Amino acid sequence: MTIFSVQSTLFTRASVALLSSNGLKRFSFSSAALYSPPLPKTKKRRFPIVSAVDIGGVTIARNDVVRDDDPTNNVPDSIFSKLGMQLHRRDKHPIGIIKNAIYDYFESNYAKKFETFEDLSPIVTTKQNFDDVLVPADHVSRSLNDTYYVDSQTVLRCHTSAHQAELLRKGHRRFLVTGDVYRRDSIDSTHYPVFHQMEGFCVFSPEDWNESGKDSTLYAAEDLKKCLEGLARHLFGAVEMRWVDTYFPFTEPSFELEIYFKEDWLEVLGCGVTEQRILKQSGLENNVAWAFGLGLERLAMVLFDIPDIRLFWSDDERFTSQFGKGELGVKFKPFSKYPPCYKDISFWISESFTENNFCEVVRGIAGDLVEEVKLIDSFTNKKGMTSHCYRIVFRSMERSLTDEKVNDLQSKVRDEVQRKLNVELR
Ligand code: DAH
Repeated sequence: MTIFSVQSTLFTRASVALLSSNGLKRFSFSSAALYSPPLPKTKKRRFPIVSAVDIGGVTIARNDVVRDDDPTNNVPDSIFSKLGMQLHRRDKHPIGIIKNAIYDYFESNYAKKFETFEDLSPIVTTKQNFDDVLVPADHVSRSLNDTYYVDSQTVLRCHTSAHQAELLRKGHRRFLVTGDVYRRDSIDSTHYPVFHQMEGFCVFSPEDWNESGKDSTLYAAEDLKKCLEGLARHLFGAVEMRWVDTYFPFTEPSFELEIYFKEDWLEVLGCGVTEQRILKQSGLENNVAWAFGLGLERLAMVLFDIPDIRLFWSDDERFTSQFGKGELGVKFKPFSKYPPCYKDISFWISESFTENNFCEVVRGIAGDLVEEVKLIDSFTNKKGMTSHCYRIVFRSMERSLTDEKVNDLQSKVRDEVQRKLNVELR
């Protein structure tokens, strides 16, 4: 379950299945905070430990990010290893191809007006990630269940909006920020704990809107919509689109853009007119601004026909060789789909149980061999004990999994779930 973005509860799973990859909805509604304790850390590690990563020329040591000594820390090795990957900076990768196509759009329509940032560190303060963009103190996105905490004041950014205020303070007025963002979440073909967003921001001065005779907010909202409709056409061609009113803590009014794709309305981005308080923090009280955030995986899944979000992380040549620099229209040809293997696990949950914690245990063991984790049964007995039954779908994108391998994974999941999650197996 999540909070404000794309990744969950606002809509039913079925209707957002594809869209829900990659995160806009997370900030689009407010709800009470949800506390879930971090998973106990264990010594045993199933991932090869990466000891350091390089982000924009800065080396980050594992021990500063995966910290056994800090009870708030909930970053596993599998997540740390993603920190330096920067898929968005690879010109032949679908994520990089889309980023470049968006850059092209801004270059042709606003030559040299937007600065681009793409190697800002994903390790940010809670102030940057939440406070600076007015996320309420009790917002569920702040919980350990939803966000990766390095320590109580430091997180892996859960959205690129984390950089808005800092860039404004440094004097930037029009910019695009692209980067990897991190969210604890459920597991299926459109959800992955790391994905990529692009943030757009544009500040206007009184002379911009005075001439138009319009009120500043209306002027910014209209300009924003025009800009993003043009972007959607640039990426998708002549598509049907619609605007939906929504809520984000950092904008008022706030909108989502949906496009009609394959017989369904697909949410592609969140945006709005920036809250005046955010501008004020940077001494811009006489200005108005618009901002947007879009999820690159979601766009890429649609544009390239990529069926499973795990593929973005694959270095299998059968995937990587299908994409070329600047080739936006290519449709991905699935290499043979290997058979899935289903395993069920049932247990009595405890009060602190959360599905995100369970999914993290499963990913910690099976990595990208897990395709989906689905709650298939839940009931409460007369004594008030609640039982959950989850179906885990194991499937490799690269080979057939043997029974032996799957049984081994499942048995490790059973052990670890019991040990880490304080549940009673049935
Ligand atoms: N940060 C939002 C999310 O991840 C997306 C977003 C919405 C960004 C509206 C914006 C905005 O800049 O104005 O859910």
